[in-house]
Amino acid sequence: MTVTITRPVRRRPAFHPLPVAAVDRLAADAVAITFAVPEELRDTFAFRAGQHLTVRRVGEDGQDVRRSYSICSTPDDLARHGRLRVGVREIPGGAFSGYACGSLRGGDTVEVLPPLGNFTTAFAPDRARRYGAVVAGSGVTPVLALVATALAVEPASTFTVVYGNRTANSVMFAEELADLKDRYPARLHLVHVLSRERGESPLLSGRIDAGRLGRLLDTIVPGDAIEEWFLCGPYGMVVDAKAVLAERGLPESAVHTELFHVAEAPAPPRRPADRADAGTEVTIVLDGRSSSVTMGREERVLDAALRVRAELPYACKGGVCSTCKAKVVDGAVTMARNYALEPDEVAAGYVLTCQSSPLTDTLTVDYDA
Ligand SMILES: Cc1cc2nc3c(=O)[nH]c(=O)nc-3n(C[C@H](O)[C@H](O)[C@H](O)COP(=O)(O)OP(=O)(O)OC[C@H]3O[C@@H](n4cnc5c(N)ncnc54)[C@H](O)[C@@H]3O)c2cc1C
Ligand code: FES
Repeated sequence: MTVTITRPVRRRPAFHPLPVAAVDRLAADAVAITFAVPEELRDTFAFRAGQHLTVRRVGEDGQDVRRSYSICSTPDDLARHGRLRVGVREIPGGAFSGYACGSLRGGDTVEVLPPLGNFTTAFAPDRARRYGAVVAGSGVTPVLALVATALAVEPASTFTVVYGNRTANSVMFAEELADLKDRYPARLHLVHVLSRERGESPLLSGRIDAGRLGRLLDTIVPGDAIEEWFLCGPYGMVVDAKAVLAERGLPESAVHTELFHVAEAPAPPRRPADRADAGTEVTIVLDGRSSSVTMGREERVLDAALRVRAELPYACKGGVCSTCKAKVVDGAVTMARNYALEPDEVAAGYVLTCQSSPLTDTLTVDYDA
């Protein structure tokens, strides 16, 4: 390994210990964690509605657990009160969600990386937009921040939210959404769909799939009028909703998607068979320093890079959170999957290093770019 200073150091976002101000129960299996951000860190944690935080916890077995949680509070809350809030739904057997919903208490401290993510839009007071969202379960979390921000910042905008849950008792942020509805009765349209309980009508009872969404857009949701959409929930629901909106002529740029988890394992790296066993000399640039490591073509760049730079940023290792994003400045890679980067980022050379395997004999990835 060689390490050289390549240019002036540009500080990579680092984990900060944030005090937990409160852990509030949202539903039988979900909590909201409120962080109190000290004055001196408020700029570092400034965010755009729709973005997420990465938390880290080293378990008793020494395992470094990193997970992403969308921010449900607003940028205004942070600026005025130093408050950042996330919503966590417990996954059976889940390493972090189990801890958050079971043992975490106000007064504890959690290591948190500053906000990241593209599930957002450029809110501006003079914009008049008709926004829509299709969400299910904990997928409502970033949309709560988007709705509250849109309605407060853009007095002429409206928001329609189609929100799927199993039962009325499992609805996260029911109170917060009802408060927003009271505050903006004419500009917020909430449509609750329940899959395991009878809703207000047959159309509102069942899973949100392509058929049901199509019927909703034809009837109670002003589908053709909505200009910008946010989709967040299980993989199948997001894929279905995207297809329905594309069929109705919505351009890809008007539909934002966020996935929390993809169950299937990513495909193995694709490459010409005659080069399959060749090694690659990879240079990693981080914090203005470059380090080199030799890696196999079957490996992921992040895994190889962590051997020489353990402080590299990452979280899901599954292509959904974008924490491991870097720019390829020399050589080429193939990405197994990408559910986090926008097409313009990919066109500019950015990759998810947890999903990237090299295609060339040499490769340079820049985490500072
Ligand atoms: C950008 C982003 C934003 C996110 N925002 C939120 C949020 O606002 N609220 C929230 O509750 N979660 C959110 N998540 C999901 C969260 O990061 C964790 O994946 C989730 O809490 C499970 O972590 P865990 O450690 O409890 O479970 P793990 O120990 O990682 O997993 C336990 C088991 O559950 C499976 N699993 C993991 N995640 C899920 C999932 N989401 N759904 C179904 N099965 C799963 C795993 O494959 C494993 O079998 C977000 C994820 C991303 C990438
Ligand atoms: S670590 Fe989440 S996309 Fe790579």
